[in-house]
Amino acid sequence: MSQHSTSKKITNTELSAMKTRGEKIASLTAYDASFAHILDQAGVEMVLVGDSLGMVVQGQSSTVPVTIDEMAYHSKMVSRGLERALLVTDMPFMSYPDPQTAMNNAAILMQQGYANMVKLEGGQPILECVQHIVGQGIPVCGHLGLLPQSVNQLGGYRVQGKDDAQAKAIIEDAKSLQQAGASAIVVECIPSSLAKKLTASVDIPIIGIGAGNDCDGQVLVSYDMLDITAGKRPKFSKNFMLEAGNISDAVSAYVQAVKNKKFPADEHTF
Ligand code: KIV
Repeated sequence: MSQHSTSKKITNTELSAMKTRGEKIASLTAYDASFAHILDQAGVEMVLVGDSLGMVVQGQSSTVPVTIDEMAYHSKMVSRGLERALLVTDMPFMSYPDPQTAMNNAAILMQQGYANMVKLEGGQPILECVQHIVGQGIPVCGHLGLLPQSVNQLGGYRVQGKDDAQAKAIIEDAKSLQQAGASAIVVECIPSSLAKKLTASVDIPIIGIGAGNDCDGQVLVSYDMLDITAGKRPKFSKNFMLEAGNISDAVSAYVQAVKNKKFPADEHTF
């Protein structure tokens, strides 16, 4: 039996209502129907088909090689495992170079991948794309802070927004994304003090990964928190399998820890 209190389908407006109520949003990535079903049953509200699949499923060294067809394929698989959770699917590298291409690719993720929302990385440079996609009735999630698709430009996976100018730019980008019609924003690897300020600066839900526990919700790469990912686990993640007997219990423990503000703890925070 499912562990969450309501079986009502989660929508973008329900995520907003959760922010208003001060109720934390639990999110994890999934790449196939079986994992998606476990996450859905454990009460995860937002399931993200992340382009992290390039690294954790395909074994590549970054998300850059992932294609729109691969995203649509995994999104379709994940959609079959979900009853309640909102399905958010990443638009991969170079799938939104201009508003028309962005809209065409977002449509592929909606029509072939059965996504409920698409996620794009960046601020100022992608505002027109966001406006255009939203204008066609497709909900958009932004992604600020560390942008994995820009890893070659950033020179590595580093904490972002540490100096005042960068921090100010991230907050301005969040406000602009809200203005452009975004329904939510993922913020990755920024100081918790900045994430707290940013979360208070906009009305749309802020979902953090490596951004402290003052965000409206949390997201992790599921393979990291289940200790499946090869190599070193990122500082901001936690092995929830350590105290759980099986994957379902580990995911439920994560959901409870997010809801109770027990995760992330200080040791997972910048
Ligand atoms: O691709 C992904 O898994 C993501 C998370 C890091 C939020 O975007």
